[in-house]
Amino acid sequence: MIAHLYAHIPFCPKVCPYCSFYKEASDRNKTQAFLEAMLTEAEGCAQDLLPETIFFGGGTPTALSTRQLEFLINGLRQRVDFSAVKEFTMEMNPATVSLEKASALRELGVNRVSMGVQSWDATLLQTLGRVHTADQARRSYEILREAGFANINLDLMFGIPGQTSTQWQESLRVTLALNPDHISAYCLTYEEDTEYFLRLSRGEFRPDESLDADLFEMTMDTLAEAGFESYEISNHTRPGRECLHNLAYWFGHDSLGLGPSAFSTVKNERWKNVSDTSAYIAHIQDGTDPVDFRETIDSATRRVEQIAFSLRTNRGVPSHLLPVEKAAALVANGLLRQESDRSHLTRAGQMLADEVAASVI
Ligand SMILES: C[S@@+](CC[C@H](N)C(=O)[O-])C[C@H]1O[C@@H](n2cnc3c(N)ncnc32)[C@H](O)[C@@H]1O
Ligand code: SF4
Repeated sequence: MIAHLYAHIPFCPKVCPYCSFYKEASDRNKTQAFLEAMLTEAEGCAQDLLPETIFFGGGTPTALSTRQLEFLINGLRQRVDFSAVKEFTMEMNPATVSLEKASALRELGVNRVSMGVQSWDATLLQTLGRVHTADQARRSYEILREAGFANINLDLMFGIPGQTSTQWQESLRVTLALNPDHISAYCLTYEEDTEYFLRLSRGEFRPDESLDADLFEMTMDTLAEAGFESYEISNHTRPGRECLHNLAYWFGHDSLGLGPSAFSTVKNERWKNVSDTSAYIAHIQDGTDPVDFRETIDSATRRVEQIAFSLRTNRGVPSHLLPVEKAAALVANGLLRQESDRSHLTRAGQMLADEVAASVI
């Protein structure tokens, strides 16, 4: 049985210029057909599912109305056995939260929220083209607590064009003052096919790697001092509040993804649905496969993925998976630390995680 279910909701109140997740601006004409398609897709794989974690991501799942979310979650419950669910996460944008919606989601069984705050600074929110203000994000956080959510993650971004270390320190301070259960702090990446990438190529942005490294250090130190455990390079948790769904991904457990652009990994097979909402709906309506590509994961690929993901976590990677000489060189360069039979990135190694992983796989 597959214990991890992902549902991709490809709608957003407004498309952010740096974001490469598959999404589109909310389109009323498509929504009902999309919801029905997702339920049909779920029905087709329900017999293989006994989810312990469910993650609604996107896009912005709460771009859907309360009524649409009720239709979707109740529809899923009718098709899929929810009796083993421990964690049910929903991603939210602060502009799409209301007390009515938050309370309905609690009643529908959602017990974890991941909200994209990004920054508490008005200028930086504008730079990011965010649709919400800092006040709105604070109010949405309060609404979520009022609705009874006891497990809330806030997403933050650093390395934003024009962001100073003082602004980042302040963002961390304001975030900690709210007392969230989990914080994801991502360094901005310039993803191909985004407006930000285009602007970078035009020379409008000047990324500063040394400042990014300082902000990363500041994040680790500030959050550790506040009692958070950094269990993955970008993810920090209060004790016992790790995201079980992400842990399952990082440790290579089977998962099933519904919706456009969603990935599924089952045993040695991996597939990805088409990244096109209209095409996804049409496939499901016609009874054809909504899959864009499939691949077989051989043992070499599994090893590579295990190393790349595990290295990013505080559990590290079993040392026997690493080539001895390369690992020794990384230890000598201060990028890797070996403890009993496991290898961990040092702080310097964490800043170069992708390069370190590439050198040992
Ligand atoms: C699907 S969004 C979260 C929910 C909601 N859509 C929102 O933005 O508020 C996932 C998170 O990925 C992060 N993210 C998106 N694009 C990024 C980029 N180019 N670089 C770094 N982080 C990014 C943001 O922190 C964002 O909150
Ligand atoms: S960051 Fe979130 S709200 Fe913005 S476009 Fe990406 S998924 Fe949508």
